[in-house]
Amino acid sequence: MRVLLIGSGGREHALAIGLVADPDVEQLIAAPGNPGIAQIAELREVTATDPASVAALAVETGADLVVIGPEAPLVAGVADAVRAEGIACFGPSGPAAQLEGSKTFAKDVMSAAGVPTARAFTCSTPEEAAAALDEFGPTYVVKDDGLAAGKGVVVTDDRSAALAHATECGRVVIEEYLDGPEVSLFVVTDGEAALPLMPAQDFKRVGDDDAGPNTGGMGAYTPLPWAPDGLVEQVMAEVVHPTLAEMRKRGTPFAGLLYVGLAITGKGPRVIEFNARFGDPETQVVLAMLTTPLAGLLRAAATGELAAHPPLTWRDGSAVTVVVASEGYPEAPRTGGVLTGAERPGVIHAGTARRADGALVSSGGRVVCATATGTDLAAARDAAYALVSGIDLAGSHHRSDIALAAAERRVHV
Ligand code: AMP
Ligand code: GLY
Repeated sequence: MRVLLIGSGGREHALAIGLVADPDVEQLIAAPGNPGIAQIAELREVTATDPASVAALAVETGADLVVIGPEAPLVAGVADAVRAEGIACFGPSGPAAQLEGSKTFAKDVMSAAGVPTARAFTCSTPEEAAAALDEFGPTYVVKDDGLAAGKGVVVTDDRSAALAHATECGRVVIEEYLDGPEVSLFVVTDGEAALPLMPAQDFKRVGDDDAGPNTGGMGAYTPLPWAPDGLVEQVMAEVVHPTLAEMRKRGTPFAGLLYVGLAITGKGPRVIEFNARFGDPETQVVLAMLTTPLAGLLRAAATGELAAHPPLTWRDGSAVTVVVASEGYPEAPRTGGVLTGAERPGVIHAGTARRADGALVSSGGRVVCATATGTDLAAARDAAYALVSGIDLAGSHHRSDIALAAAERRVHV
């Protein structure tokens, strides 16, 4: 099978590693890719958000399967354009990707499907926003309604900061605060059949002990030793299948990767958000544990054959990834710094570039994700942090407590 992978971040490097490990994959082409992906795939240029360009590249490269990593191309309808050429594509249609593209749309689907989530109001003026903030009280949760790469959300006890974010964004969703540990559950689906991957936890705040602003994610681990028994089955029954049924009913079935972000509250799991693609950096740890051939799984979802797919298989033990971020991330990341120690197994490239003189440099806020497995969370942590200590980038920072509370059995529902 010849696979074309669209995207250029850490998630795509993790997907690339999984795809080339599948014995059925003869060739992996990635566009635009990054220097980490370049070690294992042929790179091509493409404007990933342009449906016609991606579809043309899929035809030109003779791809049997196209895998779309990031959300913006999905929302732009890239998967539709690829399928219109008769090529199998892993990724939802543009209309189905609205589950991520619009928070209001997602809330509407959840409400119609009876999916447990935070109560919410969509607000378009500062007056409406103020009324919604006062309806719920602190802690305030204000979300940009559009695509914001997981960064358009402010969670704060400061009413004026909450109102300022609402005013700046224009149209926002203001919702009830959900208290409880967060879980990311990835579900591979062909629109009807659905296979859950191992649940993971992401660390959204920039600093240790969840201090500072939200980021795209500073690290992740899997599995979750503290997760209640039956959690995945409950989420499949209460969230995933009703949502997939509602999307079919609307004539826009969702096929691809449904990412369910949950808070495990005292009243049970509640949906924080849906995404229409693999999460970053949770993909790095979930795929490190998956032993089922990845391309075959994604192709089965892309071609409506998931019901016949064998059960997924997993490695024993745990996986941990730690993001090494640029100086100034998330507010004002400094790029262009020379990076060493990053060309080793387990170091997944997220925001790196190759300078004309061949040096590897930082090119984004999240630069690399040091990813390792181990017999348990403590061992996987040690191995991931050993990789981090070998990476040198002036001014860079990382959290030192990824998976620590879980390893020490300090996470409770
Ligand atoms: P989102 O982009 O919706 O995933 O939000 C980003 C992050 O903000 C989430 O991972 C949570 O940490 C936090 N968050 C979002 N919505 C809520 C909520 N209703 N209650 C508590 N925290 C939330
Ligand atoms: N890890 C969060 C996200 O991918 O949005």
